[in-house]
Amino acid sequence: MSSEQTFIAIKPDGVQRGLIGPIISRFENRGFKLVAIKLMTASKEHLENHYSDLSEKPFFKGLVAYMGSGPICAMVWEGRDAVKTGRAILGATNPLASAPGTIRGDYAIDVGRNVCHGSDAVDSAKKEIALWFKPEELNSWKSAQFDWIY
Ligand code: TYD
Repeated sequence: MSSEQTFIAIKPDGVQRGLIGPIISRFENRGFKLVAIKLMTASKEHLENHYSDLSEKPFFKGLVAYMGSGPICAMVWEGRDAVKTGRAILGATNPLASAPGTIRGDYAIDVGRNVCHGSDAVDSAKKEIALWFKPEELNSWKSAQFDWIY
């Protein structure tokens, strides 16, 4: 278990449904640290790059079109085991298989509109963070009030 960074994105359906606040709260409440955030409407090329591993899948074209249909809230969260725990906070890819209490398990029923994205491994988190953010957009910070919060 180590402190690491993960890429979390609120997809266009999540942004349009007003779920930015509740999703950020779940990560903050768990104890993770927000180190980068921006609202961005991604180009087709950018999204094809982000999802390049899925380019042969039948849902790829629709996925890229939907992800480009409006702004995405792109974020980097930092903390112990952030990649694996971030995926646990999101829930399973198919919301119908997501446990209640997870974001997808509480807010979604359609795999094609599953509200949020989270990196699935430390390596892909590094690639995704580099794709979505410039190094100077990442803010490393410590709480000035609580030195016991990691
Ligand atoms: P994937 O990387 O398999 O899942 P995850 O987002 O949990 O890492 O798939 C990427 C996205 O593609 C997924 O969040 C929703 C969409 N998708 C579909 O639209 N249909 C499908 O059958 C699958 C598996 C995914």
